[in-house]
Amino acid sequence: MTDKLLRLAIMISGRGSNMEAVIKSVDQGLLNVKLAVVISNNPEAKGIDVARKYKIPVYVFEIKDYKSKDEYEKAIVKLLYEYEAGLVALAGYMKIVGPVMLRAFKDRIINIHPSLLPAFKGLKAQKQAVDYGVRYSGCSVHFVNDTLDGGPVILQEAVPVDIDDTEETLSSKILKYEHILFSQAIKLYSENRLKIVNNKVKII
Ligand code: GRF
Repeated sequence: MTDKLLRLAIMISGRGSNMEAVIKSVDQGLLNVKLAVVISNNPEAKGIDVARKYKIPVYVFEIKDYKSKDEYEKAIVKLLYEYEAGLVALAGYMKIVGPVMLRAFKDRIINIHPSLLPAFKGLKAQKQAVDYGVRYSGCSVHFVNDTLDGGPVILQEAVPVDIDDTEETLSSKILKYEHILFSQAIKLYSENRLKIVNNKVKII
């Protein structure tokens, strides 16, 4: 008997190219998960149309429609339960995840960040790397906890930074690797191969 497929929820705020890369991995049979639902906090997100194109249910939750961040997250958690999400993948979701979601999905939320963490946390990580003048930056997939971009690292890929790189050129170089790395991390999770030990991720 085969195990039940992992039901994946993806949260976005914008373009959704990482989300689309994951969808394509599933379509190509490289990633064996069920794309259960997509959630956007931004009604203008381009990724909403992308998800619709692939016939994945999409919901918009705007924080301004709720009394508090907790209420907003409670509504999201309710939907995630309805769709029986087993893993929540943040693909360019531009909100800090609060205690309601963290409690409901402990060690079941992952994020992709465009730097080699712990370097260049927060916004505009690629600009931070260019401004600093590092020789390498890259991308990281990590579990989400209550520290911003500070949860246990699952996978990373290094990308060389050229002296002539701008925020834009570095972003597009890194993005190519993001599109590979995110699906790889989800695959490892779906195969139950990730174990958090002392805040580090063991790949079994
Ligand atoms: C990516 O660079 C991701 O690492 C960061 O936000 C960006 C989202 O891009 N968290 P997209 O919406 O997936 O195209």
